[in-house]
Amino acid sequence: MTNTPTSNTVRALAPAKINPYLAVLGPRSDGYHELETTLLAISLCDELEVGVDDSGSIALDVEGPFASSDVPTDERNLVWRAAERALELARTRFGVARSRGLSIRLVKRIPSQAGLGGGSSDAAAALLATERALSIEIDPLERARILAQLGSDCAFFAEAARSGYARCLGRGERVETLPAPSARWTVALVTPTALAPTELVYRQLAGTLRDSKLVPRLQHDSLEGSVVEARSALYNRLELAALSAVPELRLWRDSLDRIGLEHFRLSGSGSSFFGLYDSHSQAGADLELLERTARSRGLGLRGSWLVSPASHGARILP
Ligand code: C5P
Repeated sequence: MTNTPTSNTVRALAPAKINPYLAVLGPRSDGYHELETTLLAISLCDELEVGVDDSGSIALDVEGPFASSDVPTDERNLVWRAAERALELARTRFGVARSRGLSIRLVKRIPSQAGLGGGSSDAAAALLATERALSIEIDPLERARILAQLGSDCAFFAEAARSGYARCLGRGERVETLPAPSARWTVALVTPTALAPTELVYRQLAGTLRDSKLVPRLQHDSLEGSVVEARSALYNRLELAALSAVPELRLWRDSLDRIGLEHFRLSGSGSSFFGLYDSHSQAGADLELLERTARSRGLGLRGSWLVSPASHGARILP
């Protein structure tokens, strides 16, 4: 249940992401893996509204096509945690009264646990929107620390705000913003019903990490080239691990390859696959063919989309 806001609500957009490139450099002592990856924000977005009220607490409402039982409405949700951190700082550093609370509405259009960064993007948007709603500005270093603690991909959505494209290092929290790629791309995106839990995929990878594999170098400007160049530069070291960890994803891979969509890649640790196109109509035709093929093979689909690069990260709406 939401509280009744007493002041203007702040609206924000939280885009999904895909990983055009994801290399795993090795294990770290903290249980995570060191990455070199690029993240590209896409025009599939969640929407967030943050209002200030006199409840002294946080209320979060989740709705929309992907509001499901795996999107909690309490402190297990990264949105709740991001808002709580901002509210606590507002009280302790900016003298905001303890009676102030937050009423948050989240519209989920991005499937969760899909390799699309939805939860991380929502958290980044929630932090920015809560700051704006409470009229505070958290120190950039402190904001970066909060985002890194919330999740590995959160920093990207906040820091690559102007281009929606970046090279990310460390667990993904060290963000080097890149110029937005040309808007001519269409991204065809499918999210299978099968889930690929991140931890399971990394565990599967760990056993093969020592095997020497030829890792292609990152070409972050490949999205400026032809569709052949852009597709051939796509890379995801987690894909084979995900296919081994989740048998149904191997059936998806097999279906993609059989209908000539070998260029599709897994996003993050899965389970979404995406393909890059310079022709919207070709992307639409291929997506339809893929949907038909999946149906005929009994493969469950959570959603499919034709989207474009967002050219922005988490963003406050005017
Ligand atoms: O980022 P998140 O907390 O969702 O990751 C879930 C799990 O995936 C981690 O606990 C870790 O086991 C693994 N992981 C990893 N290296 C990363 C990101 C995730 O090993 N860079």
